[in-house]
Amino acid sequence: MMMPGSPVRRPRRLVRAAVIGAGVMGSAIAAHLANVGVRVLLLDLAPETLTADEARKGLTLASPEVRNRLARAGIERTAKAQPPAFYTVERAALVTPGNIADDLDRIRGADWVIEAVVEDLGVKQDLLARIEHHRTPDTVVSTNTSGLPVAAVAARASAELRTHFLGTHFFNPPRYMKLLEVIPTAETDPGVVETVTAWGAGVLGKGVVRAKDTPNFIANRIGTYGFLKAAQLMLELNLDIDDVDELTGPLIGRPRSATFRTADLAGLDVILHVAVNAYRYLPGDEERAIFEPPPFMREMARRGWLGEKSGGGFYRRKDGDVLALDHRTLEYRPRRRTSAANLDAARTIADPGKRLATLLAMPDVYGEFLRRLLGATLAYAARRIPEVSDDVLSVDQAMRWGFGWDHGPFELWDLLADAGATARLVPAPSDAPDAPPLLHAVRAGGQGSFYLEDTARRLVFDPRAGMHVPLPEDGERISLARLKTRGALIETNPGASLIDLGDGIVCLEFHSKMNTIGEDATAMGFRALERLSTDFDGLVIGNQGPDFSAGANLMLILLEAQDGNWDELDRAVRRLQQLMMAFRRSPAPIVAAPFGRTLGAGVEVCFAATRAQAAAETHMGMVEASVGLIPAAGGTMEMARRVAARVPADTQADLLPVLRWAFETIAMAKVSTSAEDARRLGLLREADGITINGDRLLSDAKAAALALARGHYRPGPASLIPVLGQRGLAAIESILHIMRTGNHITPHDVTVATKLGYVLCGGAVPEGTRVAEDYVLDLEREAFLSLLGMPATQDRIRHMLQTGRPLRN
Ligand code: NAI
Repeated sequence: MMMPGSPVRRPRRLVRAAVIGAGVMGSAIAAHLANVGVRVLLLDLAPETLTADEARKGLTLASPEVRNRLARAGIERTAKAQPPAFYTVERAALVTPGNIADDLDRIRGADWVIEAVVEDLGVKQDLLARIEHHRTPDTVVSTNTSGLPVAAVAARASAELRTHFLGTHFFNPPRYMKLLEVIPTAETDPGVVETVTAWGAGVLGKGVVRAKDTPNFIANRIGTYGFLKAAQLMLELNLDIDDVDELTGPLIGRPRSATFRTADLAGLDVILHVAVNAYRYLPGDEERAIFEPPPFMREMARRGWLGEKSGGGFYRRKDGDVLALDHRTLEYRPRRRTSAANLDAARTIADPGKRLATLLAMPDVYGEFLRRLLGATLAYAARRIPEVSDDVLSVDQAMRWGFGWDHGPFELWDLLADAGATARLVPAPSDAPDAPPLLHAVRAGGQGSFYLEDTARRLVFDPRAGMHVPLPEDGERISLARLKTRGALIETNPGASLIDLGDGIVCLEFHSKMNTIGEDATAMGFRALERLSTDFDGLVIGNQGPDFSAGANLMLILLEAQDGNWDELDRAVRRLQQLMMAFRRSPAPIVAAPFGRTLGAGVEVCFAATRAQAAAETHMGMVEASVGLIPAAGGTMEMARRVAARVPADTQADLLPVLRWAFETIAMAKVSTSAEDARRLGLLREADGITINGDRLLSDAKAAALALARGHYRPGPASLIPVLGQRGLAAIESILHIMRTGNHITPHDVTVATKLGYVLCGGAVPEGTRVAEDYVLDLEREAFLSLLGMPATQDRIRHMLQTGRPLRN
């Protein structure tokens, strides 16, 4: 990464890091660094007093286990975090605890030191002086401050350190929140900014946004404004906490946690801290008064009602029910669902622009709330350019990635403009004399839209130039939607499409509801193979929805089973098995690109592909048993093969422990917490790749397919699978007996698991028999269909479809 002619030295790659401050953020940042293979030193203060437990054990303040207590506690807390902070708990071994009194010299040679101590300027400045004393010349140093002026943190540091110093603002929790704001000061070397940007996006998988060094940067500045504005309007219009959450959630393209539930997750103290910071450091802000939180929130903070971490905030759970706070009385009462005829009607509109237009047109108080909230937030964001950023894209990305909005403020403006609804916003939009200058500019020079699309490119309005310029596209991001608008669509049906990715690679995209794999997707899979044989060098199976695939279409399976269409079901299962076998035997390479939820048949697609290239955040599981079935599109067969492959053929080693592991993965419907965890469960192979930055998944999958094609990949011959046969069956029977006796599993669990075991062991054959693939496929199909005929299985499927949860029968 060292640029020729670069004036300052900087690390070539990120191998070793130090994080100082092992609190909420520091520990979790350290965990995410460990996730991507970086060795981390995690330092916190050395304690000044002993705990009662330490004193009882006769320890002193000089004992090593006492001195690192805070950092160690940070690692232990993080290892237990939910959702998990580590890809797998083993990753915690890459984090070494220490304390700043004894171990600061160990930052020597680190590529990156991240300061994440308390939000106190003096403490941060003092610490930086001590870091300076131990740091080696090219080490990059950054602060995770959420709002202090970054330049002020480094005010007392040497000029040399200041060239290597910048802000890196992670969002909580850092593994899952995509946004990373990178805040250079006037003195930060541009090469250092480039290095940290590349680490953030390429190594840590974050969406990096460059922010200016202004209080609270981009996302928290606009997000906290929006939060407090919503609270102000709630009070003025006499609405309730749950009304506001109903109005500001998925209805307007924001997360289900909406406004106040999000605050409960983030912590009211953290939000008020940002607000106070804005009020103190932004005397010229035209909306400064908003940053003075309403009295009821101050009272909540005084009482310690901070949200989830303190047992309750705007909401509180009691005896299994969710209660909402009445902000007038500060008493809790049962949560209510806001219901009004026009709100219910708006909910049914799928198109986000039309839905918003409908909501803004509502004559009631809900319409007024939204007209004023969205109008004010948009105007506030528009006035923040060029203060917080020079460009509109960074602001939109910051709000999408940091707050989970579907559309940033300027993207929202375009949606409203297309739907002819901007005039409904309050304050009045672009034609009012006192409207934000940016809105005047986009009207004058930009045809009224921030983003435009021509046949070749996407354009964005550049406020400095007063005109649209090509959007800086991440060359490593493939957009299937955009490829389709540019003529790359080859074939399509309601469930799937074929898209030309260029360079001889074709993509099979699933796009049914939840990307379930039914008749259409199967048919398109066969079409993909035909095209592959004549026109392409490789196939990528991937898509860009929220999840790779929820598996087979359970609704259809249940309907057929209820109607007794066994021939039809047998034919459908055979056809899916045939497709998977054809994938396996394809002479051209096939790379599956799973991400998000990858369940049931979605996993079997990955099994059948030459390779999988999985996003780090892949939640993968063969969950058929939870609906009373077993994997029957080659999934159980592949697990039998993986069991055998884990034990070298020419040794005397026993397959039984490995069989047990595979059996449990399927019988307990285990779902991985990450791609790395999927490897542990045997659902991904060592040879399968992992992509940390989900935006780059398809391009990595394409690169993998190209590499295989260039290496003249050809599948190996179909080989026989050594199985455990009768000995395995006996072992499984005894496991199930013990679990049933202890009441850990239900009678139907036993039935399902017995059938699963039969397939996995290759039937009642002698141990060591080598069985053919087609034979195991027949066993799979027989087990699947016989289970499907049982009322208990049909009950499980029905319950899953109705509630989304497994039935324990
Ligand atoms: P925290 O209070 O959980 O942790 C701070 C840690 O710093 C404590 O473990 C404390 O013992 C340690 N510490 C204090 N002085 C120290 C020193 N001189 N040397 C070494 N360690 C020292 O705080 P949290 O929430 O982790 O915040 C850390 C930083 O990250 C702050 O600047 C905060 O503004 C920022 N931040 C916080 C976010 C959040 O959601 N909590 C989000 C983004 C940024």
